[in-house]
Amino acid sequence: MARCGAVMSLRFLVVVVALHALLPTATAAAALQEGFYKSSTNCTVDVEATVASVVQQYISADRGVGAGLIRLHFHDCFVKGCDGSVLLDPSPANPDPEKASPSNGGLRGLDVIQEAKRRLESACPGTVSCADILAFAARDASNVLSAGAVDYGVPSGRRDGLASAASDASQVLPPPSAQLDRLTDLFAAKGFTQDELVTLSGAHSVGRAHCASFARRIRPNVSATMDAEYGARLQRQCPADAADDTVAVDQDQATPADLDNQYYGNVLAGKVLFDSDWALVSDNATRQMVADNAADQARWAAKFIDAMRKMGALDVLTGDMQGEVRRFCNVTNSG
Ligand code: HEM
Ligand SMILES: *[C@@H]1O[C@H](CO)[C@@H](O)[C@H](O)[C@H]1NC(C)=O
Ligand SMILES: *[C@@H]1O[C@H](CO)[C@@H](O)[C@H](O)[C@H]1NC(C)=O
Ligand SMILES: *[C@@H]1O[C@H](CO)[C@@H](O)[C@H](O)[C@H]1NC(C)=O
Ligand SMILES: *[C@@H]1O[C@H](CO)[C@@H](O)[C@H](O)[C@H]1NC(C)=O
Repeated sequence: MARCGAVMSLRFLVVVVALHALLPTATAAAALQEGFYKSSTNCTVDVEATVASVVQQYISADRGVGAGLIRLHFHDCFVKGCDGSVLLDPSPANPDPEKASPSNGGLRGLDVIQEAKRRLESACPGTVSCADILAFAARDASNVLSAGAVDYGVPSGRRDGLASAASDASQVLPPPSAQLDRLTDLFAAKGFTQDELVTLSGAHSVGRAHCASFARRIRPNVSATMDAEYGARLQRQCPADAADDTVAVDQDQATPADLDNQYYGNVLAGKVLFDSDWALVSDNATRQMVADNAADQARWAAKFIDAMRKMGALDVLTGDMQGEVRRFCNVTNSG
């Protein structure tokens, strides 16, 4: 009987393996692939080089835009997948898109996407998706801000989504007040480990934050979980009225314009803005990850690349049947 069972399960296994062998063929057309636009006969220009040159141009004028692009890609991919849904403006048909969520306050880099799209539409109309432009731009920004340390290929062929809702963004994106359990859950919901959460948080070594997002940590008094001098400096930089959200400060006050592992040194020193940053040392396991990243820039950069590529593949739309290629990145083709 036992042998019979073994034979049965072997047969079953063969069937399962055969079915699995079929699956990839069925989905192969829909997989992202590096150099997707190289094989497109539509384009008279090099698509990725065009995006890179626009990103370079805007970053030369303002490095902060590069930080904005990295955050935009994160906010696109976590909410309904990397489908350009974060780029849609409110319209009569959709008055409350992701962009209108408080979680998307302070977005920047949108003009970079618009300019890259404008150039690509004139070279090859209806061909390059906004979701891909954003994925390329975030990669290019990471590359420039890290002086080449973060350098990776971006599989492409994403299509642009038709839907975008502020409520989705508010549910899925972590607030700056989040503690470790919440952060862990929100990242796990997208298939990310705690180590990847810690790795990706290193993006807070560039860019800025508006004072309202950490006001509770500096007023009336500097939080006990923050370095006193760093806190005093933030008190001087930020308006006394916590409701006044016009001022933004550098996230990393040591090397504000460089994407590097300085963030982890800042976390260990209590020189970070958000509860969510400090939360990474609230647990022994994640504290060790922070210390490891602080100690090894090259290893962090390698992990950051892997995590960014993984993020760029979240719930993508592909093929001819899903989504569309928008003509303008801020509005769906049907308006
Ligand atoms: C772990 C949970 C996270 C929380 C709670 C969080 C929260 C925030 C907040 C509140 C800001 C300030 C926005 C503003 O005031 O303008 C910010 C900025 C930023 N975030 Fe995050 N973030 C998280 C993870 C990430 C990840 C995973 C990335 C990318 C890989 C990222 C990249 C950035 C960048 C680059 C900025 C600066 C944007 C700019 O200068 O325009 N963040 N984040
Ligand atoms: C999309 O962007 C263009 C250019 O900035 C603007 O003129 C247009 O009004 C925007 N569309 C919507 C729906 O906001
Ligand atoms: C080529 O461009 C046309 C519009 O000019 C578009 O309909 C078609 O989908 C494009 N082909 C590819 C492979 O992107
Ligand atoms: C803030 O610090 C001042 C002076 O040290 C102290 O008197 C006050 O009680 C503190 N306020 C809070 C809310 O901790
Ligand atoms: C965390 O580390 C501290 C000090 O290294 C140690 O005393 C404590 O037992 C550790 N906690 C856990 C849950 O491992």
